[in-house]
Order: sequence, then C-alpha cells, then structure tokens
Amino acid sequence: MPQVLSHQQLIDIAEKFGTPTYVYHAERITEQYSRLTDAFSGIDATFFYACKALTNINVLKHIKSIGCNIDCSSVNEARLALMAGFEPGRVLYTSNNIAFSEIEAAKELGVHINIDSLSNLEKFGKKYGHSYPVGIRLRPNIMAGGNLKISTGHSKSKFGIPLEDVDKIVQLVKDTNLHIRTLHIHTGSEIKDVDVFVKGIEVMFEAAKHFPELEIIDLGGGFKVPYEPGDEGTDIQLLGKKVAEAFSAYAKQYGKTFRVWFEPGKFMVSEAGYFVTKVNVLKQSGDIRFAGVDSGLNHLIRPMFYGSYHHIENISNPKGKMLPYNVVGNICETDTFADNRMIAEVREGDYLVFYNGGAYGFEMASNYNSRFRPAEVLVKNGEAKLIRRRETIDDIISTQVLD
Ligand code: LLP
Repeated sequence: MPQVLSHQQLIDIAEKFGTPTYVYHAERITEQYSRLTDAFSGIDATFFYACKALTNINVLKHIKSIGCNIDCSSVNEARLALMAGFEPGRVLYTSNNIAFSEIEAAKELGVHINIDSLSNLEKFGKKYGHSYPVGIRLRPNIMAGGNLKISTGHSKSKFGIPLEDVDKIVQLVKDTNLHIRTLHIHTGSEIKDVDVFVKGIEVMFEAAKHFPELEIIDLGGGFKVPYEPGDEGTDIQLLGKKVAEAFSAYAKQYGKTFRVWFEPGKFMVSEAGYFVTKVNVLKQSGDIRFAGVDSGLNHLIRPMFYGSYHHIENISNPKGKMLPYNVVGNICETDTFADNRMIAEVREGDYLVFYNGGAYGFEMASNYNSRFRPAEVLVKNGEAKLIRRRETIDDIISTQVLD
C-alpha cells in the first residue's frame, strides 16, 4: 500500500503554517522511485526526474539523495539542479525552441543536452563539432497523452525535429562532425497505454541505424498516475518487461545494446503532494452549494487549464454527510476546482485537501490578483518542515521599479 499522510498530520500542518499550503511527502517520492528501479531492474535504465513538475530545492535534494538523476527544461532548472548538489553528469537538459545562447550556457555547465531544432543542431555542430556528445529530440509523430495540451509527439506538435527530417539531420551530422550519443522522444504526459512507449522504441530503433555513435535511447516521461478513486496509472511492471524485451530483441538482431533513459515528472511527485486549503465562504444558489476556498486558479491551474480532476476531501469533517459541492476559488474570474462533487458536509473554516498536488501545482502557480503564492512544507521522517515561506507584499513589489 502506498504511504499516505494522515488527515491529522495535514491538519497539524495547516494549523502551524497556515493555508493555502502545498505539502510533500518525501518517503512517498522515494517509494515511487523504487517502483521504477524495481520494474526496470533487468535492463540498463536510468531515471531523470523531470523537475519542471516541482522544483523546490529541498525536494531536489531529496531526489538526489535517493539516487535519481534530474531532467531540466531550462538552463535555470539546470542551475537549480547544480545548486541542489547534482553533479553535471547527472543532469539532463532538454531544450525546446530556445536561443542558442541558452544551449551554450548549458554546455558551459557540463550537463547532457538534447537539442530539438535543426538550426540549433547546426549551430552546435559548427561551434563544438565532435568535442561534446549531444542528443537529438525527435518528433515521432505519435499521438498520445491525457489531453491535446499535454500531447507533444504528434505530427502537428512544435516539439522536436520531425522524423521526416532525419536525412537532413544525417547530413548535418556529417557536415559538422557532430557526436550524436542520444536520441530522445517525449510523446506526452499521462500515457497509460504501455504500447505507446513500445511504438516509440520502434521509431527510435529505426532512426538509430543512422547514428553509429549512439549509446542512449531516451524515451522521455509521461507515465500516468491515478487521479480519481478507481483510476489506474501506467503499469510500470509491464512497461519494464516490454522495454526489456524490445531492447534484447534489438541486441539479438543487430548485436548492439543501448542504455535507456526516462524522464518521469508526475510519476515521481504527483501523489506525494497534498494541497491544503481552508473554506472561506459557503453560498447556496438554488441547488448549487458553493464552497469558496482561500485559493484559486492562481495556485492550482490544472482543473481550469486542462479540465483535470483532483480528488478533494474535507479533512475537518470526514465523517460528515456526503453532499454535492461546487468547489471554487477566490480569484476574480471563474475558477472552479470541482463541479457537483460529493464531499463530506462542509462548514466555513473547514480544511479541504486536494490530492495529486505534487506535480505542476505550486510550479504553475502565479501572483494573479496580486495574491501570494502558497507556502510549501516537506514531511520527512515524520517531521514537517517549511521549505518555502508564504509570500508577502514585499515579494510582490520586489521586482517592480519604483520612482
Ligand atoms: N520530459 C519532457 C521533455 C517533458 O516535456 C515532460 C513534460 C516530461 C519529461 C515529464 O512529463 P511527465 O512525466 O510529468 O508527464 N503541466 C501539465 C504537464 C506538462 C508536461 C510537460 N512536459 C500538467 O499539469 O498536466
């Protein structure tokens, strides 16, 4: 059974640190990492936590301490990773439509780099030639993922170099003497179907024939986690088995083995996170019961942006009568977290907890309506520690230029 934080632990944190607060459970992150390493124990697999999901440096330090590597989507994330103590060899940077100067900066940091455009690949080759091994992000033209906004590998996606340009890549590699060590794909987020990854591997094996120095196949992230009660995530055990089979079949046929890399974000941290809010106001309008909490789409944008489901419980009155609520925020526009959702009877002042708060929660938060972003707390060895203080009005004004 996965480890969970108890209602009482969450209430104690809410009382001590106030609300709204994101709470993360270190041991639950460790547990997810172990699930991965167990499932892939039969092959040479390495996991790079996609830190765009959650970058608090204390979480990054925990991830480092359990032996997991780190994947970054900006040079700033790479800098944070180094600040957290990751050696450059454990840091992967997958760029996307960025200025070449950012790739140069990443190269100076000494991290692994995946390049996603022909133009940056050419600049890289002209500047560094064979001296710095590099990866190429391909667009495999596979439609996958929980919704279109988080599908990245399909034939109309901005991500990666389209597969049909492989001849151009080969020419470029020849002309500039590039050292291609990695081929990368990331087809989307919330991919439940294991066969999507197998399909990705087939595409990669085909492309691999063009790159004799290739050592690594990087299949990106995108493992689905359960959100709703009864929901199922990607079957990691089955995936481990199928990936191992595909790689060993390739080795048998071509006499070559590759290392495989993954970049899980949600899988590592989503379920380890809880977002704790307090009910400010109850309103009744006809049949509709509104529970208005002290948060909004500025703190958790996923429901409004992707239509995502986050399970919500009233931890102050868990045995209360189940009633339907519209859980809404306090932002000056419609920010519905849940519609007609059955929740134990809510009273003003109750704490409502949102599950799956670890991934893309705080990380996508903003100061919209000049509201403070939430505090963050990490629970480790049973101890709850503040890892980001709540903001103040000084934080909001701090980057503005005053006369
Ligand atoms: N690798 C690359 C290159 C990526 O672009 C991403 C996510 C990942 C790995 C990690 O994917 P994951 O394992 O977390 O699914 N904000 C959205 C998700 C956007 C994902 C962006 N890229 C959400 O809240 O659903």
